[in-house]
Amino acid sequence: MFLKKLTLAFSLCVCAIAVWQCDKGGDDNPNSEGPACNISNADLSYTKNIKRIIDSKCISCHGGNGPGPDDYRTYEGMVGHIKEGHFIEAVVIDKTMPESGITMTQAQRDSINCWLKAGYPK
Ligand code: HEC
Repeated sequence: MFLKKLTLAFSLCVCAIAVWQCDKGGDDNPNSEGPACNISNADLSYTKNIKRIIDSKCISCHGGNGPGPDDYRTYEGMVGHIKEGHFIEAVVIDKTMPESGITMTQAQRDSINCWLKAGYPK
């Protein structure tokens, strides 16, 4: 009997933690991390500004055939990584991408940062 109550109490506890964690995950936006946007009146969109950076710096590896994961040739192909916060981390915070000698200017990184912070409009 005691053990049963203990088990019940334990599962309630696990449930509560799970709900709390979920809630937390839903609230925080990974793209708000890292440096603040430093371009005033940045009005950046994927079509106007970002696609050409991605096309020249990323799709040689993230073009669907590897070696990088996913297919960045379209907006839809990038959104998964963006939502998970991998983009801001790799391009703006840790600057691990692009790799293998492909370089990117700080201005290009800044544009991507501001675009992500603005909610990555298409
Ligand atoms: C020379 C090839 C190459 C280029 C160019 C390149 N990547 Fe990558 N990228 C990789 C490889 C390989 C991986 C997977 C292994 C790793 O993380 O290093 C990766 C991983 C990533 C990840 C992490 C995915 C995850 O699930 O955590 C992101 C985000 C990313 N790249 C974004 C970019 C962006 C944005 C660009 C362009 C600015 C870019 N990469 C350019 C090869 C490349």
